[in-house]
Amino acid sequence: CGIIGALSSRARVQGHLLDALQKMEYRGYDSAGICVADQGVLHCAKAAGKLAKLREKLAGSACDGSIGIGHTRWATHGAPNEVNAHPHISAHCAIVHNGIIENHAQLRRQLTSAGLSFASDTDTEVIPAMLSTLLDKCSYTGQAWHQMLQSLDGAYALAGLIDITPDTLWFARKGSPLLLARRGNDYFVASDALAVADLADEVMYLREGEWGCASHDGCQVFDAEGRMVACQWQEMPVAAGSTDKGVYRHYMEKEIHEQPAVLERILNAYIDDAAIHFPDAPWLSTDPLPERIVMVACGTSYHAALTARYWLERYLKVSVEVDVASEYRYRNPVIGERTMLITLSQSGETADTLEAMRLFKSTTPNNRALSICNVASASLPRESDGLIELLAGPEIGVASTKAYLAQLSVLALVALHMARRAGAMPQAELEEHIANLWHTVDGLAEMLTRTAAVSSVVPLFARAHGALFLGRGPCYPLALEGALKLKEISYLHAEGYAAGEMKHGPIALIDSNLPVIVIAPQQYQLDKVLSNLREVQARGARVILLTDLPEQEWPEDVDRIMAVPEGDYFTTPLLVCVPLQLLAYEVALAKGTDVDQPRNLAKSVTVE
Ligand code: G6P
Repeated sequence: CGIIGALSSRARVQGHLLDALQKMEYRGYDSAGICVADQGVLHCAKAAGKLAKLREKLAGSACDGSIGIGHTRWATHGAPNEVNAHPHISAHCAIVHNGIIENHAQLRRQLTSAGLSFASDTDTEVIPAMLSTLLDKCSYTGQAWHQMLQSLDGAYALAGLIDITPDTLWFARKGSPLLLARRGNDYFVASDALAVADLADEVMYLREGEWGCASHDGCQVFDAEGRMVACQWQEMPVAAGSTDKGVYRHYMEKEIHEQPAVLERILNAYIDDAAIHFPDAPWLSTDPLPERIVMVACGTSYHAALTARYWLERYLKVSVEVDVASEYRYRNPVIGERTMLITLSQSGETADTLEAMRLFKSTTPNNRALSICNVASASLPRESDGLIELLAGPEIGVASTKAYLAQLSVLALVALHMARRAGAMPQAELEEHIANLWHTVDGLAEMLTRTAAVSSVVPLFARAHGALFLGRGPCYPLALEGALKLKEISYLHAEGYAAGEMKHGPIALIDSNLPVIVIAPQQYQLDKVLSNLREVQARGARVILLTDLPEQEWPEDVDRIMAVPEGDYFTTPLLVCVPLQLLAYEVALAKGTDVDQPRNLAKSVTVE
């Protein structure tokens, strides 16, 4: 969910709230709402569906004032309808919330027996209800707000309006991201700096448990125990890259096309005179090498980690464990000393990844935790021991593309750097791989021109009941990612499988309406992959071969071939990811789905 709060000395804030919500719509888009206070009276407007529906509803309305809060929702408790949309109100107050209140059922029972009634199915509604009862009991508003926070278990980022303090914006953060921003006497709270970058000059990232209020007289921030903390303002970061679509039809298309530039930016930033260095994690060049590496992530970021495991184990010869964060954090992992954690996250706010990192650090405080992240100011890098920034620029399309390419690129550099340090790779070989990475910038650009080959594959999906992606070695996770991309944006069921494992189950699915995408670069057991191709072909599958074989060596009898430039052990996955992204994009276009905001998904998942 995306949260905004705005307090302005001059302007009416409705426009600011809606524009900020637009910029955070990637965080959830199943309903939206705002509440403004005008002369001490709270006015709310909510609508199910995307923000455009709320805009339509508000057109020409008098729902405006100099202070307000807004929310764009990704449903957790309760269907995505207008009643469940935020803000939630009770006598005296309105609240927007991101997170999950775990003791909501108990609080609801308690408040119901005290005579309060509830309108929605959400966990959030207990917050304004609890606040209302405390406002009646407490001697001042700040005390009621603090006591209300103390009654909540779970995760929250909150912004609130209270009619008895009509010029004050209330806020709190625990477990879900929230920042405070200001320009002169204007104050904002938001889930993401992107939302307020044009409105404010300075920003302060709230820490766990912090809460407070802002008014025209200034702002006050307190810790969880209620002690006042000093406000530490920083200059608002200038977002790298623009947030409009430019000449492209969708953000996803634009972001796919930005990939050559992203790789170039990464190579320029982290390579100097044939040496690799990471300025925000200098200990990667000085600490003793770890005996084990653990990589934890979710979704597409997890797939990037899986590919890196092949690179690291082959060259560094240390054991590498990769897990999805939601499993890692609850499976009592055995973490030894001299183990390095790498978390991967585009947003840096994914709740499970953040908690997995906190578990790792609290269990073994001497071990280092490295964050590879696209948002340098996010919670994960701030709480980690070092950061390698992905430098991909804002990624708006919900399905990750350029951040994935950036993750693969950065991980390739990490593997090369550590292999060199371990003495497992001669300098000449390192330089050869670096040269190949530079060539890959052109290789990616070339892939983006090969759209005809991708378009020719799309008709095979017209009557498909699913799709199967097969790969081996570092391209096995590419099969997983190819399938995920297709699922996410075309709603077609797809599975990624290790090509050699396919005969142990998925082969039963094969018929002429199950396109099979076989990823067969020369680097990773080509002969074995081609044997697997024959196995599916013999059972009537329509086969799409993705290969870097020269044309004269292409097998004759496959249905379609998508050619990629030849790469090395590190660069091949970078080149292969582009046609897989383009394929998912083209199939989604043919199906007419919402490419940038696919149903039910959200880009930044700050609940577990
Ligand atoms: C969501 C997004 C995915 C993303 C995953 C992890 O599910 O829809 O695209 O891969 O979260 O996000 P992160 O920001 O941690 O990379």
